[in-house]
Amino acid sequence: MQFDQFADDYAHILDNSVGISGEDSKYFAEYKAGYLHRIYPPSFSGKVLDFGCGVGLLAGYMKRAFPAIQLDGFDVSADSIRRVDPYLAAQGCFTSRSADLAADYQLIVVANVMHHVPPDQRTNTVQELARRLVHGGRLVIFEHNPANPVTRRIVERCPFDADAILLPPGETSGYVRQAGLQIGRRDYIVFMPRPLAWLRRFEPSLSWLPLGAQYVVVAHKHA
Ligand SMILES: C[S@@+](CC[C@H](N)C(=O)[O-])C[C@H]1O[C@@H](n2cnc3c(N)ncnc32)[C@H](O)[C@@H]1O
Repeated sequence: MQFDQFADDYAHILDNSVGISGEDSKYFAEYKAGYLHRIYPPSFSGKVLDFGCGVGLLAGYMKRAFPAIQLDGFDVSADSIRRVDPYLAAQGCFTSRSADLAADYQLIVVANVMHHVPPDQRTNTVQELARRLVHGGRLVIFEHNPANPVTRRIVERCPFDADAILLPPGETSGYVRQAGLQIGRRDYIVFMPRPLAWLRRFEPSLSWLPLGAQYVVVAHKHA
């Protein structure tokens, strides 16, 4: 699995790649956990899967944001899974074997994973995730926005993005609909680099603007 070779140094490599934004890997992981706060209260106690969790960077922030969740993680890279914080891993099922996963998740988060999934496998991947949701459960997909030139530059220079094929929001939404899920919202996120950090409080009101560095598709399985 291609991410095995980067597992030891994942955060450091990502820090270097996103440095142009003035931020580091932690900023982007915390931002995504913050986005989930717009949808769920801190008391949310559902069963959650972080699909493509890597070394568990986002998973750690999710657990801090929602201490009562039961959090599992899956990644095809076994070496990445081995590097998940043992305290976090002990509280859920962190695995590279899909057979270990449950089929009753209330929330499945897929953060910057789909662009690593070969296009001919994307439909099946999303359908499989939809099957693992309870009725009323949500699928939240974060992705790079290919329309943003800074994002494209970061992806071009990131060593573990060598296999990346970026997908526009319409493509992601298409997979979600084909899987029988209903799209609740589609938001653009991450607009301001660090020098403009004082403007970040306005970012939620810019979610309609297709210039964000990333985007989110939030969908649910009919109740
Ligand atoms: C850019 S990393 C993102 C890690 C994490 N989600 C985050 O936001 O920090 C992409 C991850 O997707 C994983 N991945 C790639 N293809 C996958 C697939 N088909 N199923 C599950 N994980 C996959 C990689 O092994 C890698 O850990």
